[in-house]
Amino acid sequence: MEKTTRFGVSLDQELLKSFDRLIRKRGYTNRSEAIRDLIRNQLVETEWAETNKETMGVISLVYNHERRELANKLIDFQHHHYLAIVSALHVHLDHHNCLEVLIVKGKGKQIKKMADKLISTRGVKYGSLAPATTGKKLV
Ligand code: NI
Repeated sequence: MEKTTRFGVSLDQELLKSFDRLIRKRGYTNRSEAIRDLIRNQLVETEWAETNKETMGVISLVYNHERRELANKLIDFQHHHYLAIVSALHVHLDHHNCLEVLIVKGKGKQIKKMADKLISTRGVKYGSLAPATTGKKLV
């Protein structure tokens, strides 16, 4: 089992109250777990900033598949980057709209570039990139 260390944190009372309200809303039952998650988030962000490190990301796209050439364009792009796309999930939202979720791996900078290209493709109604991690450095 990992060794745990306790440490004290000095905080402005109002800041602590705001923090407690925030973590209650998010469903945390104690401050320690909320602080651990904040630290992990910062570590993941830093991992993304280090361009030569391999990392993971999740790209979501919503588009109308009937729009001329759009579906083909998105598929062509994905085949062009098949080594970086670990998995692709396609959900037909209704008669017209599709949700595509891509799990991608590579250098953070490259993943960001791919996401920007897909999201900015004309006709894509919504797009987002959620940074993930290989988890190797997190406990
Ligand atoms: Ni579809």
